[in-house]
Amino acid sequence: MANGTKYFIGNWKMFGIPSSFKIIERIQSYFIADKRNNNKYKIIIAPPFNLIQDFSKRLKKRGILISTQNCFHKDNFGAYTGNISPFMIKKMGINYTIIGHSENRALGENEKKLEEKVYNALRNKLNIIFCIGENMIEKKNNRTMVVLKSQISRVLKKKYNFKKILIAYEPIWSIGSGKVPSDTELKKILIFLKKFVKKKFGVRYNPRIIYGGSVDKKNINNFKSIDELDGFLIGGASKSSKNFIDIIRKFYK
Ligand code: PGA
Repeated sequence: MANGTKYFIGNWKMFGIPSSFKIIERIQSYFIADKRNNNKYKIIIAPPFNLIQDFSKRLKKRGILISTQNCFHKDNFGAYTGNISPFMIKKMGINYTIIGHSENRALGENEKKLEEKVYNALRNKLNIIFCIGENMIEKKNNRTMVVLKSQISRVLKKKYNFKKILIAYEPIWSIGSGKVPSDTELKKILIFLKKFVKKKFGVRYNPRIIYGGSVDKKNINNFKSIDELDGFLIGGASKSSKNFIDIIRKFYK
């Protein structure tokens, strides 16, 4: 069993209406009742922007944390129709944001923007869940490590506090596909990434790295033996309280 605090982060993507709060309530009841927890793990849910303020108000001081799924690359206020800045997120009482999800990269979010997003989010004291991951072609061409190194190097900076950054390794070929890397494959990548971040940015502790891509109750056991893993970013299976709770229950069984 892996050591240290684990993160179970639910990424709802484009899912959720006000009544979906019942999903969070059920997860919360489990979390509060789980006597075995003892700060072993944290739960963060990332609903879409329409629900953020309402959900975070209702959850205040109740264990489960809320994250946004993205933030705009410019800060403060401005003439940017339809966008929400890190400053506005922080003022809602939110402390986490996902940045660089492959679905947003695929829609044209480039690394220059990601660099600005991370910079402005950190300036506003947000914690960041920074997503990286290779696609199937890159994997087949043995370019995984090169791609991951470049995605990290082009966005993160030596001056940053890496305690505020959670790196989410999410291979694109795994997201929503039901396919997951083998435990040996994943372990190798995590060890490589931790070493790389420590060396490149002069970080003296182990940076936290979570895994995302088709995590569910059927495959969660595969991940148990990987000590280097600090948690999970869970998409599809986070839309059902039962699935989400089963993942946590099985992980600690
Ligand atoms: P998935 O999504 O669990 O549905 O594969 C993970 C993610 O995109 O964060």
